[in-house]
Amino acid sequence: MIDKKVAKLINEQVNKEMYSAYLYLDFANYFEDEGLDGFANWYVVQAQEEMDHAMKMRQYLIDNGLHVELDAIAKPDKKFKTHTEVLEAGLAHEQYVSSLINKIYDVAFDVREYKTMQFLDWFVKEQVEEEKNAEDLLKKMAIFSNDSKGLYSLNQELKNRKLA
Ligand code: FEO
Repeated sequence: MIDKKVAKLINEQVNKEMYSAYLYLDFANYFEDEGLDGFANWYVVQAQEEMDHAMKMRQYLIDNGLHVELDAIAKPDKKFKTHTEVLEAGLAHEQYVSSLINKIYDVAFDVREYKTMQFLDWFVKEQVEEEKNAEDLLKKMAIFSNDSKGLYSLNQELKNRKLA
C-alpha cells in the first residue's frame, strides 16, 4: 500500500516526466532547425532520460499494486530568441522538477512512508546531476559560443553524449 496523496503525486509526476521528455525533444527540434546537431543530440538524450524517469515511477506504482492513470501531455510552447535562452530554460525546468520531487518527498515524510522516501532518494540524487548538467552546458556555452569556431567545437563535443 502507498498513501493515496503520495500515489497521486507520483502518478502526476509520471506525466510531468513525460512532459519533460517532450520539452527536451522540442529543444532538440529547435537546434536541428538551427543546424546544431550536437546540441540536438544532447537534448534527445535528455529526453530519453526523462522517459526513463517516467517509467521508473510508473513501475513503482505498479509494483505496489496501483493503477497508473495516463493524462494528456501538454504541448511545449516555448519560443526562443537565442541559443542560450534554450539552455537557460533547461536549467530553470530542472530546478522546477527538483522542487516537484522535494514536494513528493515532503508528503511521503509527513505520512512516514519510508519505502517511498527510499524510492525517491534516487530522484533526489538524480536532480543534483540534472541541474549540474544544465549548469555545465550553460558555462560551456558562455566560454565557447562567442565565435563560430568555438560554437562548432562545442557542437561537435555534444554529439558524443549517449544515454547512460
Ligand atoms: Fe526527470 Fe530532468 O528530471
